[in-house]
Amino acid sequence: MLAKVFSCAVVGLDGVLVEVEVDVGQGVPGMVVVGLPDAAVRESQDRVRAAIRNSGGRFPVGRVTVNLAPADLKKAGPTYDLPIALGILLASNQVAPSPQLDDALVAGELSLDGVVRHTPGIISMISTAAGHGMPRAFVPAVDASEAALVGDVEIIPVQTLADLVNHLSGEAPIAPHCADSTPPESLYLGVDFSEVKGQEHVKRGLEIAASGAHNALLSGPPGSGKTMLARALPSILPPMTIAESLEATKIYSVRGLLPPETPLLRERPFRAPHHTTSYVGLVGGGSWPRPGEISLAHRGVLFLDELPEFGATKLEGLRQPLEDRTVTLARAAGTLTFPANFTLIAAMNPCPCGYYGDPRRACSCAPGAIGRYQKRISGPLLDRIDIHLDVPRIPHEQLSDRRPGELSAAIQERVARARAIQATRFTGTALLTNADMGPKELRQHAALDDATEALLGAAVRQMGLSARAYHRVLKLARTIADLAAEECITTAHVAEALQYRPRVAEG
Ligand SMILES: Nc1ncnc2c1ncn2[C@@H]1O[C@H](COP(=O)(O)OP(=O)(O)OP(=O)(O)O)[C@@H](O)[C@H]1O
Ligand SMILES: [Mg+2]
Repeated sequence: MLAKVFSCAVVGLDGVLVEVEVDVGQGVPGMVVVGLPDAAVRESQDRVRAAIRNSGGRFPVGRVTVNLAPADLKKAGPTYDLPIALGILLASNQVAPSPQLDDALVAGELSLDGVVRHTPGIISMISTAAGHGMPRAFVPAVDASEAALVGDVEIIPVQTLADLVNHLSGEAPIAPHCADSTPPESLYLGVDFSEVKGQEHVKRGLEIAASGAHNALLSGPPGSGKTMLARALPSILPPMTIAESLEATKIYSVRGLLPPETPLLRERPFRAPHHTTSYVGLVGGGSWPRPGEISLAHRGVLFLDELPEFGATKLEGLRQPLEDRTVTLARAAGTLTFPANFTLIAAMNPCPCGYYGDPRRACSCAPGAIGRYQKRISGPLLDRIDIHLDVPRIPHEQLSDRRPGELSAAIQERVARARAIQATRFTGTALLTNADMGPKELRQHAALDDATEALLGAAVRQMGLSARAYHRVLKLARTIADLAAEECITTAHVAEALQYRPRVAEG
């Protein structure tokens, strides 16, 4: 007899419906899976066999043929365990066909004892089911709240294979998952801006970066607080909108990084990969392309500490995503694009010994070494960074100052207000922040009066700014004006934006 169950493959972030056909017939006993299965799918035979036996069923004696269609799409991972097991039980008449299964999606990995385990990419699969108008999906119970985020599809949480059988027979129906709507409190436990003494201009720079999603680079001697300041940044990032959360959650789901108890990512991502992370780990890729750190930082922050240590190859890999806000990866069958709209925050010392430019301590670097060190970061990458901040060592008096600084919560309020202005500005477009603006939007939203244009023109000539840098100054000025809740960009806003351009590398 022949049975059919629907499941789903995940390619990149998108799902593709897969029909799992199972035939149990005469012939040499055994099981064969066809339809471009990878090793993990082929291995499902053993898991499925044990899971059926340990759930009180019997593995059929005849020839079991499993076909995964469409045949030209590679099938990876253990997602198909549950649909294959169910197909075998249907085809061998151990489970009666049920209207519950009409147009239903089934996905999940099985353990040998029949427990349905966490399976990555559930959100993408349920979005696909919703797109095809499927009414119902059977998913691992641990992934049910993640699945329910999509809406429109009834989610049946399945603990074990036996539970699914008893549900379909009507003996012990499983209640559909009810979405819980109480958002958890913020869990931020890191550094508060009030703990950082002095460095007021750096805090101001980071406030602007958070407001308009602008890239920033902190440069200064050892122990001046660069890492501390960057690590405090999550405490002032604006809250994520639901649409942003869903975008980010989909990426984490595909990577299998969502904690089951908090399926929807509500905190803006803050990713701080170490400089030893591989190229693929940072940018994404692999023979089955997976999103890298830059995609995991989508709608949030990518913090690269000790920037020059990352090396030229990885840093150059950031150039295209920084410009396009997506990353395009080559793979055997064409290319694949992942979202990568992140704010880059980087930190570095000004030279190998760390003390170049320090008023108190002499730099011990050999002549030429400073220039070589700074050139590890290419011009095109520096050009993409809007906010360059010097982080000097602070005097002892300032460090021992007991007066509390401004709390992160107060700064975050200003940031959120500036974001709200941008949200209103870009309603009905795909843009969310000032950093997303292209030349067309700049003409519309960042027009300058004659005096301000003249100031900017003079600066462009004097500082030798590129066309990209010119546009980046305008975007930054727009954000500075938004923080001041001013409609028009003034000379003061442009002047402040210009302050954040890099000084030319010396040495
Ligand atoms: N402005 C500051 N206010 C309060 N504490 C500070 C400040 N600057 C530095 N510190 C203290 O010094 C420690 C080291 O700072 P941090 O790690 O941020 O330095 P860094 O600039 O990243 O240095 P490196 O260049 O060596 O990486 C912090 O953990 C903190 O305890
Ligand atoms: Mg540091």
